[in-house]
Amino acid sequence: MNIEVLIPADASAATPLERFAGGTRAVPPHRPLVLANMVASVDGATAVDGESRGLSGPADREVFHHLRGLVDVVLAGSGTMRADRYRPANPSDAVRGERLARGQHAVPGIAVVTRSLRLDDSAPLVSRAEVATVVITPEDADLRVPAGADHLAVGRGAVDLAAALGLLHERGARLVLCEGGPTLLGNLVAAGLVDELFLTLSPGLAAGDSSRLLSGPELVPMSPLRLRALARSGDMLFVRYDVGDAAGSTPLR
Ligand SMILES: NC(=O)c1ccc[n+]([C@@H]2O[C@H](COP(=O)([O-])OP(=O)(O)OC[C@H]3O[C@@H](n4cnc5c(N)ncnc54)[C@H](OP(=O)(O)O)[C@@H]3O)[C@@H](O)[C@H]2O)c1
Repeated sequence: MNIEVLIPADASAATPLERFAGGTRAVPPHRPLVLANMVASVDGATAVDGESRGLSGPADREVFHHLRGLVDVVLAGSGTMRADRYRPANPSDAVRGERLARGQHAVPGIAVVTRSLRLDDSAPLVSRAEVATVVITPEDADLRVPAGADHLAVGRGAVDLAAALGLLHERGARLVLCEGGPTLLGNLVAAGLVDELFLTLSPGLAAGDSSRLLSGPELVPMSPLRLRALARSGDMLFVRYDVGDAAGSTPLR
């Protein structure tokens, strides 16, 4: 798929995907760097017929898989797990090799934030995971986590997302990719826990009543974004923004 980078984040990188998604990133000291990746129609829909796949396309899937290939943990809320029928990540042999060469596990783990998601032992996210799926719940959540999954319990009533990211960091995660959905992303941005947003603007108008990119209380003032890179594939646009402030830096490719 032909992706043309219009504003390069890393002009020296070899491939368009690396130019778009590579470069030096700011890293916070006590939690992983958190990237978010979302797709929306031009009028702001994040789902068509209840799923995000109707907004996607081959180039968006390439960006999606490229970002997954970079990170240690893919984080999503239970609504996304249900709607988009999550399965364990299964990178190509080439990506597995690159990850091992960087000192990462061959496969990124999946982590789900929930109060109520019921996962069976036989669910693919449990039974087929090469890296144990992490179920992140509040301490007082009333659910059974399958024996094959990891469990982090942080916060009361809702997951304390900063503490959860801190625990993932203690376990070695340096890069986390939040794939939504809008509720989890809204909570993370409100808590100042998202460092970069990768937004695919899908060339279509969907109307309907799906959530916007973020759900939750209005952010006043709004969280500012700084444009970092812009790419296109046909009529589809890929925008990469820095979110908020951070200290330190790390190269990532
Ligand atoms: N366009 C895109 O890029 C994109 C990406 C992802 C999803 N989507 C779409 O978004 C829709 C789902 O939206 P959504 O907002 O429901 O998704 P979501 O954010 O994935 O899931 C919301 C759920 O996550 C859990 N959660 C979030 N923050 C929590 C916290 N701090 N503590 C405890 N639990 C927390 C809660 O689970 P419990 O209900 O278990 O308590 C909450 O109901 C679907 O239609 C999906 O296709 C679109």
